[in-house]
Amino acid sequence: MCGIVGYIGDREAEEILVKGLERLEYRGYDSAGVAVVEAGGAAPEGAAGNGAVGDGQAKGGAAAIPSGRLAVRKKKGKVGQLREALGGTNGPRGGGLRGSVGIGHTRWATHGAPSDVNAHPHTPPDGRFALVHNGIIENYAALKERLQEKGREFESSTDTEVLVHLIDDVQQATGLPLEEAVRQALTQTVGAYGIVVASAENPDFLIAARNGSPLILGVGDDGEHFIGSDAAPLIEHTRQVVYLEDGEMAVVRRDGYDVKTIEGADLEKEIHELEWDLEEIEKGGYEHFMLKEIMEQPTALEDCMRGRINPDKGQVLLGGLTEVMDRLGSADRVILVACGTSWHAALVGEYLIESLAKVPVEVEYASEFRYREPILREGDVVIAISQSGETADTLAAVREAQERGALALGVCNVVGSTIARETDAGVYLHAGPEIGVASTKAFTCQVCVLAMIALAMAEGRTLADDQMQAHLDALAGVPDKVRTELKRDEEVADLAKVYRYAANFLYLGRGYNFPVALEGALKLKEISYIHAEGYPAAEMKHGPIALIDRFMPVVFIAMKDSTYDKVVSNIEEVAARDGAVIAITNADNHELDDLCEYVMRVPETMEYLSPLLTVVPLQLMSYHMAVMRGCDVDQPRNLAKSVTVE
Ligand code: G6P
Repeated sequence: MCGIVGYIGDREAEEILVKGLERLEYRGYDSAGVAVVEAGGAAPEGAAGNGAVGDGQAKGGAAAIPSGRLAVRKKKGKVGQLREALGGTNGPRGGGLRGSVGIGHTRWATHGAPSDVNAHPHTPPDGRFALVHNGIIENYAALKERLQEKGREFESSTDTEVLVHLIDDVQQATGLPLEEAVRQALTQTVGAYGIVVASAENPDFLIAARNGSPLILGVGDDGEHFIGSDAAPLIEHTRQVVYLEDGEMAVVRRDGYDVKTIEGADLEKEIHELEWDLEEIEKGGYEHFMLKEIMEQPTALEDCMRGRINPDKGQVLLGGLTEVMDRLGSADRVILVACGTSWHAALVGEYLIESLAKVPVEVEYASEFRYREPILREGDVVIAISQSGETADTLAAVREAQERGALALGVCNVVGSTIARETDAGVYLHAGPEIGVASTKAFTCQVCVLAMIALAMAEGRTLADDQMQAHLDALAGVPDKVRTELKRDEEVADLAKVYRYAANFLYLGRGYNFPVALEGALKLKEISYIHAEGYPAAEMKHGPIALIDRFMPVVFIAMKDSTYDKVVSNIEEVAARDGAVIAITNADNHELDDLCEYVMRVPETMEYLSPLLTVVPLQLMSYHMAVMRGCDVDQPRNLAKSVTVE
């Protein structure tokens, strides 16, 4: 997730900004940059990128106040590399950037691969101001087209540069002060943003605006103010903070700040006292990244769907697949390749694509696919699913598919990762960085993307308009339902307490929830080291039933769907053998209360979306058991987040 830091005061800004970026490193990022308003003077050669930009002379209608210039440095890679590029006291300029107001950013790519050019801050062609942005501008493609028609050229592939040009365009056209131009430009954007703008023309001035991406203003002593995307870069300077809310904008000077709504109405903001320490802030107040990532799922799913589904029009728009959509929609066969949790998402994808788009699907372990000389025909489409985009076996499967002439698509979370680069087209999850080794939010976002792919394949082919609308309405409603179930965390923790000493667990489900049974079992064994197996519920009588006794908890996913009656029969069979049944079922279903030791309830949704809801209590249960058993939840023994070896 991108990070933002801003500073205005009397100290040198560079070190405060770079230190602030280091504090934000925990959020995950792939490039970093800073812009500092330096005292006036001619700008060095070269515009944005790795050099300094701006000459402090506003062009066009904007008021030209001769003052400073904006020096921008940005680098792909770690903050340490940015530090090196800045040169410090030994740098080519005999020191780093000189100025006491500036902004910084760590970027986690969403639009455009990680690179120096795509890194923030971004500036307009004359370098009059610099902007850092967290979030996604949904309508950036339409805005970009409009601005290109006016002759504007873009250096980067980011949505952020589009916003910069839009602000510039408004200011050039109207001559409004920067603050007003920012305000007007923001009213034309759709999507989520947290932005901070520094101006070369006004070295006593920062603008911060928020809609969907958090921003905090830190109020220091002696005319110092700080801005952060969270409190991590502020905490060593001040504990007095003002939280900006969605739709609010702040103009920050050394001697104070004004907060208004984006529409321009004045606001009185309360100052809060920060009580957390740095480690608590990094994990958003949660004890572990895994719990934070479980809790982030509603927003991750919203980000994943942002700008891609339009329930009113019954449309799905997956920009990354536009050029291959015809080929995908008319595919003879889809082969999903993946490893680990991503393979479980692929299994859900098989049900989704077959039932919605009526195209045959095969799911393969990437490691098996690559070595068994797969038979691929024209008309086959291979989709690789990988959170990291770097898993060695999945990457090899992509290369194998391409060598055999198949169209290879990617569903990755990490933008610019090898699989994302090497596949012919693809869809990003936009789930934000996943740091906990056990995958949680990436799984739900993978299922969400596969649902969107299935619906896009079905659009105009196998689903009528009204059916599409109903499906998309249901999909759009999922994040709030996940929010509801996350409120039951304490109930799940109580359950975990009861079973935390069990040595074995069995997870059973059918249909869409068979892969969830596998994922539930994997989560438990990964982080708590309890042996757990997942099976299709009907397979129980072909072996696992021999294991059932009162020491064997059996988790059934028993949603009221087309397989419900059969699952209940399986529950009866376990109960008859004294097995301890834990069931996951619909919120209002009490039919299982007497048969089961515990019932976890999840909200109602369409059958094909239920994995997005049923997996959540299983993630929480694994998490709590692992914590209660004293395990290292975020870095379980022997496991790696990204498996780049065979
Ligand atoms: C590792 C991770 C899993 C992940 C799997 C596949 O085993 O620990 O959480 O599901 O790799 O990773 P990928 O990045 O390709 O989804």
